[in-house]
Amino acid sequence: MSPALDLVANGSSPTNGHASNGHSATKKPADGFSTRAIHIGSEADESTGAVIPAISLSTTYKQNGIGIHKGFEYSRSGNPNRNALETTLSSLESGGAYALAFASGSSTTATVLQSLGPNAHIVSVNDVYGGTFRYMTRVAKENQGLETTFLDLENAGEEEVLAAIRPNTKLIWIESPTNPTLRLIDIARVASIAHSHPSHPIVLVDNTFLSPFYSSPLLLGADIVLHSLTKYVNGHSDVVMGALILPEHHEELTQKLRFLQNAIGAVPSAYDSWLAQRGAKTLGLRMKAHGRNALAVAKALEESPYVAEVIYPGLASHPRNELAWKSLSPHARKWIDTLSPASSDPASPPADGFPYSGMISFRIRSSASNSQLQTADTFLTSLRLFTLAESLGGVESLAEHPAQMTHGSIPPAERALLGIGDDLIRLSVGVEEEEDLIRDVLGALEKAVGSA
Ligand SMILES: Cc1ncc(COP(=O)(O)O)c(C=O)c1O
Repeated sequence: MSPALDLVANGSSPTNGHASNGHSATKKPADGFSTRAIHIGSEADESTGAVIPAISLSTTYKQNGIGIHKGFEYSRSGNPNRNALETTLSSLESGGAYALAFASGSSTTATVLQSLGPNAHIVSVNDVYGGTFRYMTRVAKENQGLETTFLDLENAGEEEVLAAIRPNTKLIWIESPTNPTLRLIDIARVASIAHSHPSHPIVLVDNTFLSPFYSSPLLLGADIVLHSLTKYVNGHSDVVMGALILPEHHEELTQKLRFLQNAIGAVPSAYDSWLAQRGAKTLGLRMKAHGRNALAVAKALEESPYVAEVIYPGLASHPRNELAWKSLSPHARKWIDTLSPASSDPASPPADGFPYSGMISFRIRSSASNSQLQTADTFLTSLRLFTLAESLGGVESLAEHPAQMTHGSIPPAERALLGIGDDLIRLSVGVEEEEDLIRDVLGALEKAVGSA
């Protein structure tokens, strides 16, 4: 393998379409996830020696002659901090060569859908993130004539997926795990079916819930990965931002999206880019802690008499536990293999579970005297460390009630079909001490169900 290809295979391509990428083929190709997170896109400043990049607030750049400059003209088209973040992201998402950052996950979605042009068709997973659903059905449909078929991509057979693809189907939209019921889509299977169809739709995976640490969709055949960087990648609940990452063979598509990134202009600020790059440096550390804590909390919930069902793909009780295991990123799998003694069958998930990001959903039992909603409310307001709040992926633990909060705009009948009842609670498990989180959750359950 040539050095360049080797770098691409490790998700650290030297080419990101930026003059200022800085990172080069001199990096060792075998650098692991956290090494890349810390070093790629973060070289010491040549002029000052500063190890941490300065925040470059200038909106415009001096030209030494018309069109003669150092790679920057105007900050919407390119900014040193945004470019550096994009370089980091292109290396973190394994199989990635190009990255584009946007002002939010939602503007990232909007830019992708606008790239499809008029009267295109999409096949999307049916319980896609609400804001994506809203953009597809209320904005792109009305303004672009874009039609979307929502399909249960977890269970649909090959024939059903192929039948949903039309001559004008340009995109398959996958989100896995889905929110909030954490259903898993077999990305490799859907990508292979999609690519076998004469319409050749591109396959996009919203990888927000797993982050580039637990899942590498580009290595499973996806064409584009999308992140709401607002969540795990930034990880500190202080930046709203999104990104796309594409593999080396999608240079043309990257150029098209980069044109729209500049033309639409939904770009992140230099300061937010700087913050997100700082956050991304600890992504590996944080995701390990999120996963370990979530597994421990999920097991404690499974043992509680006050809980009817725990949904965590790393648990053996999850219906797609084997798929979660099979589709772990190479670096997550390598780390998890060091946690427990080698199993007799490496193809089978560990019987006592494995870390799989930080999101858990569970169904609380009703107390004798209260409705499900009242019981859930008492649980959520009795928590001391988990904050009752929307969003996810920050270092602090959060808890929410999907039926009344994140998914409140879905009509009750549809919510019921998706399994989003008043008994469902979603946790974003942070990186606090494991035993404190378990004590917090069990204490609130006791108060809400045990003593009510
Ligand atoms: C899976 C997923 N995708 C996309 C988004 C949109 O991202 P943002 O809030 O950064 O616009 C969200 C936000 O919650 C999300 O959960």
